[in-house]
Amino acid sequence: MKRILILISGRGSNLQAIVQRCADEAWPAQVVAVISNRPGAEGLGFAAARGIPTAMLDHRGFASREAFDDELSHLIDGFAPDLVVLAGFMRILGDGFVARYAGRLLNIHPSLLPAFAGLQTHRRAIEAGCKLAGATVHFVTPTLDHGPIVAQASVPVLADDTPETLSDRVLAAEHRMYPEAVRWFVEDELRVSEGGVVHHRLGISQLFCG
Ligand code: GRF
Repeated sequence: MKRILILISGRGSNLQAIVQRCADEAWPAQVVAVISNRPGAEGLGFAAARGIPTAMLDHRGFASREAFDDELSHLIDGFAPDLVVLAGFMRILGDGFVARYAGRLLNIHPSLLPAFAGLQTHRRAIEAGCKLAGATVHFVTPTLDHGPIVAQASVPVLADDTPETLSDRVLAAEHRMYPEAVRWFVEDELRVSEGGVVHHRLGISQLFCG
């Protein structure tokens, strides 16, 4: 039974998708805790209602990034997770934290990486005239939004899209892809090559098309 811990900062719709699929498909896994760095994050209520332990660690109470990361690691390690899932966790984690969870720290980013790392991805994709947009699940490494790519989902960019309409379309794809990628991890289906390329053990496509 793999132990999954999920970090959030807000709405938590990806968290919900993962918890739901884990239960519906009886994965050999359990979501053991949800931790938010923001008080009042909506996702905490969802987790608590499902009987999942929750915690809140407000980064604003810490003098430095390292001090926050240290306390967060301490909290995380108390749940002994096999996998830490960042699901809308809007806080940059320091190198020490990333090294501590290397190979068992996943993130989802709302763009087709390596394009549009960072913020405002949907607006930037529209302004660049992209015809495709999407989201990427990747292992976290010290460089922001740059780790080995586990899966990608693509959706079309429509002529009248706004950042909001595009974001809705991408988010729906995220909800299909992220639980699948987490399932691959807990079922030991992922292989990372020396060069940092992630393969599915069974050669299954890691692309989700909208
Ligand atoms: C998602 O778009 C995710 O890609 C990004 O933050 C958003 C989180 O949404 N990292 P939610 O909290 O899972 O609803």
